[in-house]
Amino acid sequence: MSQGLVSASYIIAAVFFILSLAGLSKQETAKRGNWFGIIGMAVALGATILNPSTTGVAWIILAMVIGAAIGIRLALKVEMTQMPELVAILHSFVGLAAVLVGFNSFIDLHPQAVNEIVLVLGEDLSTTLESAKAAFMEVSTQDKGLHLEGAMLNIHLVEVFLGIFIGAVTFTGSIVAFGKLNGRLSSKALALPHRHKLNLLAVLVSIGLMLMFVQAGGALIPLIIMTLIALAFGWHLVASIGGADMPVVVSMLNSYSGWAAAAAGFMLSNDLLIVVGALVGSSGAILSYIMCKAMNRSFISVIAGGFGSDGVASTASDEMGEYRETNAEDVADLLKHADSVVITPGYGMAVAQAQYPVAEITRKLRAMGIKVRFGIHPVAGRLPGHMNVLLAEAKVPYDIVLEMDEINEDFSDTDVVLVIGANDTVNPAAMEDPGSPIAGMPVLEVWKAQTVIGFKRSMNTGYAGVQNPLFFKDNTQMLFGDAKESVNQILAHL
Ligand code: TAP
Repeated sequence: MSQGLVSASYIIAAVFFILSLAGLSKQETAKRGNWFGIIGMAVALGATILNPSTTGVAWIILAMVIGAAIGIRLALKVEMTQMPELVAILHSFVGLAAVLVGFNSFIDLHPQAVNEIVLVLGEDLSTTLESAKAAFMEVSTQDKGLHLEGAMLNIHLVEVFLGIFIGAVTFTGSIVAFGKLNGRLSSKALALPHRHKLNLLAVLVSIGLMLMFVQAGGALIPLIIMTLIALAFGWHLVASIGGADMPVVVSMLNSYSGWAAAAAGFMLSNDLLIVVGALVGSSGAILSYIMCKAMNRSFISVIAGGFGSDGVASTASDEMGEYRETNAEDVADLLKHADSVVITPGYGMAVAQAQYPVAEITRKLRAMGIKVRFGIHPVAGRLPGHMNVLLAEAKVPYDIVLEMDEINEDFSDTDVVLVIGANDTVNPAAMEDPGSPIAGMPVLEVWKAQTVIGFKRSMNTGYAGVQNPLFFKDNTQMLFGDAKESVNQILAHL
């Protein structure tokens, strides 16, 4: 394949990626968007492999086969509720790749760096590394055309430094996000003393190291020190963000992974990687901004870490009073006599896979002439659009699935609200308790309805770890049990 054809293929792939993003922005066109993405990626891979300057094709194909086998296995196995964890861990791979590409580009330009690695790692490893160095020198003497000087050299060094920095932050930050999302790490914010100062210090020291690195025309020691700082910085940044702000963190890491890929594109002089990285980076940043607005958070406070944890202790659960329990038969009766019903699903509906019986109840009630609608909070569940995907899967018509802003005004005219496995997203404390970690976050104002039914298994808290006064209000009744079983029982009584 000629170089011209490779460039043309890259442009075509970039157009497919843009079409893909456009398609993914609406439920109706999301499947098509996915296909555009797949085609774009196939074109990009094909052109890269057939690029005349690509060597070691057998290795690339071997890596692709292994990667694809792992990817297919994971994709088939992963539950919808585990999707954010998968996305988080995939972001960490992008970060790690950017770090490796960065070190590789640096060594490419500075073969003598291998000597420095020997010095850093000690004599024991020197024999192994000496042979690696010999092999490496052999490759690098097959002139790679990398003879940068003056401003070009400085620009390249800054690319390498920033690429490794962003990559390392993304790598450990995503691992912490993965751990928090799957419950291996506590979702509570880590509150080290002077944490903001620590973050600032890490950034300032890294800037100093970058100046040293560039002034020296590229030196391994500052690069390694910065990498260690960036790894710790990424870890600390995400560890100190509270559970309630995790959605923003995931989309922010998505954005970082894009910029890390773009940085790798600059280092490798690969235009497509730059374009794709910029697309992912900017769409992730826009998504983070939209989510921050939806949750009434300042973008800067969230990314500076720990916003969700700055609150004063919130009201304890024993001060909340008593709650009332109900049963499926009574709920079915209530629904039959209602004129207007709103269902607000949350993470619990996803875990219980209750969307199918919920869709069934919706059909039945609508057939009885009852107005049924859904109210979707922007961060309900564990990933953006989680509830919309589940409801679409269960064939709930799009036109009765409304966003929080569209439905909030209607709760006062609603007879029954079914809160199915949602907690933080319907918590009035966000509006009433300034000390709550979720204070200021807009919520579905379900308590304004005549009757609210809370579907849960216990009085446990939601993701943000705060108790919900809604469940103790006079017009709320609790229906305890697995959401799918509860909804099925109601269905039987309808
Ligand atoms: P949560 O606040 O997490 O509450 C879910 C509720 O579902 C829990 O109180 C739980 O109570 C109940 N539940 C769990 N399994 C259940 C089952 N099988 N049957 C019935 N109930 C079950 O959910 P939410 O209201 O959707 O809020 C989402 C939270 O996740 C927010 O804090 C948000 O910031 C965070 N988050 C969101 C995202 C995105 S992007 N959407 C990403 C990461 C984190 P029991 O244990 O008592 O049953």
